Amino acid sequence: MHRTDVNTDLASTVASDEAGRKSPNPAGSWRLGDQLVNRIGFGTKRLGGSGPIAHRPAGTPDALAAGSERVTALLRQAVELGVNHLDTAAFYPSYGRAGDKHGFDSVDWANDAIRRALAPYSDNLLIATKVGPLEHGLARPDQLRGLVEDNLRQLGLETLDLVYLRQTGLTSVAEHFGILAELREAGMIRHLGLSNVRGEHLAQAQEIAPVVAVQNRYGVGFGRVNDTMLATCGAQGIAFVPFFAVTATGREEGGVADSDPVVAIAREHGATPAQIRIAWTLAKGSHVLAIPGTSNPAHLAENLAAGSIQLSAEQLAVLDAIPSD
Ligand SMILES: NC(=O)c1ccc[n+]([C@@H]2O[C@H](COP(=O)([O-])OP(=O)(O)OC[C@H]3O[C@@H](n4cnc5c(N)ncnc54)[C@H](OP(=O)(O)O)[C@@H]3O)[C@@H](O)[C@H]2O)c1
Repeated sequence: MHRTDVNTDLASTVASDEAGRKSPNPAGSWRLGDQLVNRIGFGTKRLGGSGPIAHRPAGTPDALAAGSERVTALLRQAVELGVNHLDTAAFYPSYGRAGDKHGFDSVDWANDAIRRALAPYSDNLLIATKVGPLEHGLARPDQLRGLVEDNLRQLGLETLDLVYLRQTGLTSVAEHFGILAELREAGMIRHLGLSNVRGEHLAQAQEIAPVVAVQNRYGVGFGRVNDTMLATCGAQGIAFVPFFAVTATGREEGGVADSDPVVAIAREHGATPAQIRIAWTLAKGSHVLAIPGTSNPAHLAENLAAGSIQLSAEQLAVLDAIPSD
């Protein structure tokens, strides 16, 4: 069994320095693998927008050029505002002709947009990517090497910081994870994670190689079936990285999930419902890393500011009690 034990020192999560100065990163940090990352990162799945395809930019040359500039500015804004944990995948569209609800069809992709906007990368930037999904189902184990090579090429890297096996439908992840472990041994990957997994999958993978992060769906009134996984990760010093923490039941369609208690608590803080949802996930443990996705610069700034919101015990209890889907 391989476990991550680098996070037993939770000093890295304090929000002020030794002199007591307020940190510009009030949500604190977490050591993800061998890198310290701010607990609010940025998910790049929504670079091309959300919602029905008809609402996305048309594929004219002018619209595409504007899309490219917009996405570059957004990624640079994220880094300027302190984001040093990007969550991406080769199959996330960045702009242009968006595909079906799974977003597999695009004229430009998140990984290419990241490279163009941010390479050469700062040493403190961690880019997490994921492999597994293909247009018509889960990749076979023998296809994973090619997918990792695609990510390396698209991102312009020699080694990927963190690669999740994003599984679906597997009873055992061992064969797939074993291939990624070999690629890690070969120096193509520094750290491994799992996405869309249950407890038994985590145990199977840990028999093969260390797991530094688990990425599952989770949010206020959403995916609470993953409460146990969140706790398991916390106990083992593994990052738990929830997706759909803002949109929750909106899932692929996006938008902020509607909920009266969330709206009421947002009013109490002079905050937005999206910020309350992010603050709630951060309150679930110092190992929980937010990766809200947005195509909107104002939303990006707002999401990062959510790190300053301290929910009271009463507010947390109200949000905890919202029935999950
Ligand atoms: N492992 C997996 O299977 C998996 C699956 C899904 C996602 N992910 C990862 O997790 C990340 C987060 O998930 P997600 O992006 O799908 O969903 P999300 O972060 O929960 O929500 C994104 C949606 O909320 C909206 N939004 C975000 N901030 C907002 C704000 N402050 N005010 C109003 N609306 C706001 C966005 O629209 P606007 O553009 O209008 O802001 C978008 O429609 C993804 O970007 C991706 O990196 C992983």
